[in-house]
Amino acid sequence: MQHIFEKGKKEITLLLLHGTGGTEHDLIGLAKEIDAEANILSIRGQVMEQGMPRFFRRLAEGVFDMEDLRFRTDELLAFIKEAAVQYGFDLDKVVAIGYSNGANIAGNLLFRHQGSLAGAILHHPMVPDREATIPDLTGTQVWIGAGTNDFMCSPQESEELEQLLTKAGANVQVGWFEYGHQLTMDEVQAAKVWYEATFR
Ligand code: MLT
Repeated sequence: MQHIFEKGKKEITLLLLHGTGGTEHDLIGLAKEIDAEANILSIRGQVMEQGMPRFFRRLAEGVFDMEDLRFRTDELLAFIKEAAVQYGFDLDKVVAIGYSNGANIAGNLLFRHQGSLAGAILHHPMVPDREATIPDLTGTQVWIGAGTNDFMCSPQESEELEQLLTKAGANVQVGWFEYGHQLTMDEVQAAKVWYEATFR
């Protein structure tokens, strides 16, 4: 998979997953803002939608191709495991940062694979898979950046995701913002406050 790896000064690896139409370059600045000393593994989505990279196919806006989502989620995890061997980072200390489509596949890693992530910062995620049997997520740290007026993801859906993850044992915190589906600096700063309290 097309990706960027940057070795940091500590054991945490930030796994960066961009939004629709993004690339592996998009979230690097944001990751440095969150933790300038972590390793960075930033991946480009494998699926193309009218020239826009994504992490899995969709049938329409907000309507996922579930078979592809499951396949791509497993493929992403296999790549992360290969990268851990190649670059020598600790698989138990991977924290995802995803926006929109990238947050959705990060959420689906949590929904499908126990222990795949130590934590996740999910900017404007949806409930990725309503049929999933979510594994025990005890000890997993999750921060959700949600929109009170996000056209892509209703507040109810953000709350549903929070409840599903909490029920599975994850520690979940939600920050609410009023900028629709956009990712703003206010939201990044709130995620940073949570990250510093949780991982330092
Ligand atoms: C998705 O397809 O993952 C969501 O609709 C968000 C997005 O468009 O990226």
